Amino acid sequence: MILELKEVYVNYNHIQALQGISLNVGEGEIVALIGANGAGKSTALNAISGLLKTTSGKITYAGQDITGHSPQAIVRGGIIQVPEGRAILTTLKVRENLEMGAFTRKNNRMKEEMDDIFTRFPVLRAKAELPAGNLSGGEQQMLALGRALMAKPKLLLMDEPSMGLSPILVREIFHIITEINKQGTSILLVEQNAQMALEISGRGYVLETGRIALEDSSANLLHNEKVIHAYLGG
Ligand SMILES: Nc1ncnc2c1ncn2[C@@H]1O[C@H](COP(=O)(O)OP(=O)(O)OP(=O)(O)O)[C@@H](O)[C@H]1O
Ligand SMILES: [Mg+2]
Repeated sequence: MILELKEVYVNYNHIQALQGISLNVGEGEIVALIGANGAGKSTALNAISGLLKTTSGKITYAGQDITGHSPQAIVRGGIIQVPEGRAILTTLKVRENLEMGAFTRKNNRMKEEMDDIFTRFPVLRAKAELPAGNLSGGEQQMLALGRALMAKPKLLLMDEPSMGLSPILVREIFHIITEINKQGTSILLVEQNAQMALEISGRGYVLETGRIALEDSSANLLHNEKVIHAYLGG
């Protein structure tokens, strides 16, 4: 397992946002974490990336206990989060946003690595010297992904990459996510778009008000009556 959460609790003051969740991601897997608004999906990702402190439970990454480690240490270990809403720095150029992705690493191959990103996302090359705020929503999601890839992730945490995108762009982004996975990056994918998330993942977890309500292969979840009714518009 590259990632393992055991009985993880997270509170915001008196709100118990995560009430003992256990989940894992195997080396090379795409694992989906689906659930409604407020279920605790972003909280789970922020706990893994060290942005939120757990009140109890254990988080293991590549065999090491990382519970309570700083976000900086976790990033250096290779866990990179693409946050909800993308968090692009809109006044900085596209190129500068990409450079920021690599800032935690010693890097003397920045130019070559950025070239790889531009090959994957040609639109970013074309707009490299423009402020990132000039990009469309889909382009900004690509930039957020490109910035994450500049950090050479071993495990990518993606928070609702499809949010606000047209159906065509959603397909494109999900296709890119599969490509990144095929090249060896493990992925924990948080989505409200359960259909797409379950189509590209191998396994999935359903989060309901801070607890894991279901876990199964994504193929089984796509046919699960409860999932169809609650998350697939059936
Ligand atoms: N900073 C905060 N302070 C207090 N409560 C919070 C905070 N952030 C989230 N919460 C609460 O914690 C619970 C889980 O929120 P979280 O953002 O993790 O849900 P989510 O599944 O990511 O939802 P969405 O799909 O809307 O992004 C919700 O009840 C939310 O209101
Ligand atoms: Mg969220």
